[in-house]
Amino acid sequence: MRTQVGIVGAGPAGLMLSHLLHLQGIESVVIDKRTRQEIEETIKAGVLEDGTTKLLEETGLGERMKKEGAVHHGIYLRFGGESHRIHLSELTGGKTVTVYAQHEVLKDLIAKRLEDDGHVLFSVDDVSVEDLTSSAPRISFTQDGANQELECDFVVGADGSQTYTRFLIPEGKVRTDYFRQYPFAWFGILAEAPPSSEELIYARHERGFALISTRSPTVQRLYFQCDPSDSVDNWSDDRIWAELHARVDGPDASVTDGHIFQKAILQFRSFVCEPMQYGRLFLAGDSAHTVPPTGAKGMNLAIADVGVLSKALAAFYEHKETDLLEAYTETVLRRVWRAQHFSYWMTMMMHRFPDATPFDLRRQVAELEAVTGTVAGATFLAENYVGLPHT
Ligand code: PHB
Repeated sequence: MRTQVGIVGAGPAGLMLSHLLHLQGIESVVIDKRTRQEIEETIKAGVLEDGTTKLLEETGLGERMKKEGAVHHGIYLRFGGESHRIHLSELTGGKTVTVYAQHEVLKDLIAKRLEDDGHVLFSVDDVSVEDLTSSAPRISFTQDGANQELECDFVVGADGSQTYTRFLIPEGKVRTDYFRQYPFAWFGILAEAPPSSEELIYARHERGFALISTRSPTVQRLYFQCDPSDSVDNWSDDRIWAELHARVDGPDASVTDGHIFQKAILQFRSFVCEPMQYGRLFLAGDSAHTVPPTGAKGMNLAIADVGVLSKALAAFYEHKETDLLEAYTETVLRRVWRAQHFSYWMTMMMHRFPDATPFDLRRQVAELEAVTGTVAGATFLAENYVGLPHT
């Protein structure tokens, strides 16, 4: 087999890149270890930035999102038993976010690729990439037990945080990894219930952070900070609801209980690798950078990366121009580090650290007052939350 761009990983980065390349007449093949069903059913985050929503719409992927997604004009930061609204659209010249689950975006992307006769190969195994520093890199893999080889002009590593492709960039001499661990995790649930709030609530409480999000009028997504070594087995439904009520309820807010049908503990950390390219290999999305979910940036960064990469590849194929490809790491990392800062900042401001001193707790409240009580503070949060402009 031969193609122009071989893409490892059928998540948001890989599938969106394949779609954007197709629109510019560039051929690609996407491979993934997982089955189509696994990809379409794995529960991830669900907030799309303004620019992500627009890009999906402009490239023919907006139909179901427009019907089933919910446009949000604000979010609440809750602390000291009170909710404070950040009016996103008013503070950003009309920008909004759309709540639409990542796996729904993936369903739309897969359907679109297949409708356009795109090549997406699921359930592949034994993936290995060779000759990255030549002009003809190859991806070999097995499918249904048979060996396959894919000759490419370029290879894109879009294989998520469990990446294989990142490690093809030699560590030390070429690649540097930057990371930060946090002393907590998120307990996430899906519940059949009406929404607890019309807009997302990010709640800071002495017992720990909680987040009220939504999926649809009948399915809700809620999270609460927990110990990273905790287990879902320690949490009965009653205990979960009691914890959420303790962290969120008050005169102006309350959590609505329902039947919990999914529970998971999500570990999180901040991570960036530099550079994001080596020879004919380019990384995109979580394979190169992960963010804590507090800023709701993960999928948005993946989509922004491939927006830049697809343009650079188009410039190469149209005019043999390599400047944009050479500048790829520098171009995307500016945005990635801004999102790293925002996600870190939201995380530090909202969570209860196990070693927090009384000084730290007072300081955290003062910071939240500065953000919610000043136009400058609220605007900073709003601009980052709806997403920085795409380059
Ligand atoms: C979600 O709905 O899953 C969600 C929303 C906001 C976040 C993270 C996750 O910051």
